[in-house]
Amino acid sequence: LVAAREALDRLIRDVPDFPEPGVVFKDITPVLADHAGLAAVVAGLAEAGRDEQGRSVVDTVVGMEARGFILGAPVALALGAGFVPVRKAGKLPRETHAVSYDLEYGSATLELHTDAVRAGSRVLLVDDVLATGGTARATVELVERCGATVVGVAVLMDLAFLPWRDALGEVAVTTLLSVGSDRA
Ligand code: PRP
Ligand code: MG
Repeated sequence: LVAAREALDRLIRDVPDFPEPGVVFKDITPVLADHAGLAAVVAGLAEAGRDEQGRSVVDTVVGMEARGFILGAPVALALGAGFVPVRKAGKLPRETHAVSYDLEYGSATLELHTDAVRAGSRVLLVDDVLATGGTARATVELVERCGATVVGVAVLMDLAFLPWRDALGEVAVTTLLSVGSDRA
């Protein structure tokens, strides 16, 4: 985790006034573009799916469209697990479970193929950022509808001033970087 945190400190770029005035956007794309940074972050996230002996305790990694795909697939490989996508509404071709959740304006729906995650399997969720926790909460519900267990949620970064902890209840959360405030 030390290598991952060092890479994040060094490579995340603060972008003032994006996507709106007063917000400082944390751009992770330079981390992804740096081989050592990407490797450290993937290894750090994969720790969330290992026991004290370093063995994988995960059957499946679920990543949330879109940015969760970038990190989730390599984490799945690191853990000897498969990767399953949770997608935005209307993208998956076969029968799905669907969960809707509130956004600041309106709502969003996420979907998971009903047969993508086996009942009884152990699942790690991977995404880039926890903000309100709405995306992760909806994904926990989707996985639980398949009869599987969520081992934890692993993210590169959390926004500590937003209520993601309340949204996720008892779910274990691993975060490589806590960001204190979005205001300049
Ligand atoms: C972003 C981010 C997380 C989510 C976090 O995704 O990638 O998935 O928001 O916010 P929350 O905790 O409040 O749900 P977004 O849907 O904006 O876009 P993406 O398709 O680029 O991942
Ligand atoms: Mg996202």
